[in-house]
Amino acid sequence: MAETIYLDGKFIPKNKALISPEDRGFNFADGVYEVVKYYRGKPFRFEDHLDRLKRSLLEARIDFDELDQLEAVFQTLLEQNKLTDHEAGIYLQITRGSNTRIHSFPEKISPTIYATGFPFPSNWDQLGNGVKVITAEDIRWLRCDIKSISLLPNVLAAEKAREQDAVEAIFIRNGIVTEGSHSSFLAVRNGVIYTHPISNLILPGITRKVVLEICKEGNIPIVEEGIPALELQNMDEMLIVGTGSEVTPVVKIDDKLVGNGKPGPITLFIQEKFFESTLL
Ligand code: PDD
Repeated sequence: MAETIYLDGKFIPKNKALISPEDRGFNFADGVYEVVKYYRGKPFRFEDHLDRLKRSLLEARIDFDELDQLEAVFQTLLEQNKLTDHEAGIYLQITRGSNTRIHSFPEKISPTIYATGFPFPSNWDQLGNGVKVITAEDIRWLRCDIKSISLLPNVLAAEKAREQDAVEAIFIRNGIVTEGSHSSFLAVRNGVIYTHPISNLILPGITRKVVLEICKEGNIPIVEEGIPALELQNMDEMLIVGTGSEVTPVVKIDDKLVGNGKPGPITLFIQEKFFESTLL
């Protein structure tokens, strides 16, 4: 049976879905998105995702006020696609809609709402052994706090990482580490955890927030300051965190080992607490 997706109020087979070539998502990447993970049939931090979506829509000036219906839509998608017994993901994309291509907002426009469910298993190999990352220049715009579908710089950086057998590219802007192409970045030195503060230069990651809550509860000191790229070589541990990455140890960066090249104790503590929190 064909996969069922949600498009503009209807649950339809994916191979019957029609989106206008003049959709502004297609023409201008004029839209925002969210990715939510379901553990044992329950969404992880759903309210946080909804809050961030509301903010992205507000900042992008896209009018969509049926946010309260989304949870039921996602649930139906998971049920219809038999994804409730698995770790599953929901991808939601809201574009400004479709009309004749002009840069400013067309007068008559209503948003295009698309959601799809997919199996989203944890990558236990990467979670257990750690991964390699590379550093890359952060060439993104100055509103990285909006979860915009305009992701070409992220895509190019992620591909550069893949070509170097790495799983993520860590962005550096003006000599300061910001975040990954599709994850948040944290590092540990002498028992203190460092990460870029919330600002226009990073996405306010929900997993980042959960990790900082875990650190607070575990009495791990937190410093929310951008890490100078030159300081990376002095870090004992590094982590990439996100809805897909969960809490993944970084053991190699640009061909240099992180610490002794094995996941460190603070990373493993955070990882354990993170997975405990997904079961609550
Ligand atoms: N990426 N920073 C960036 C640039 C991201 O794209 C993401 C998530 C994160 C982590 O945010 P969160 O913990 O809320 O997932 C940080 C999603 C999953 C993606 O693009 O698929």
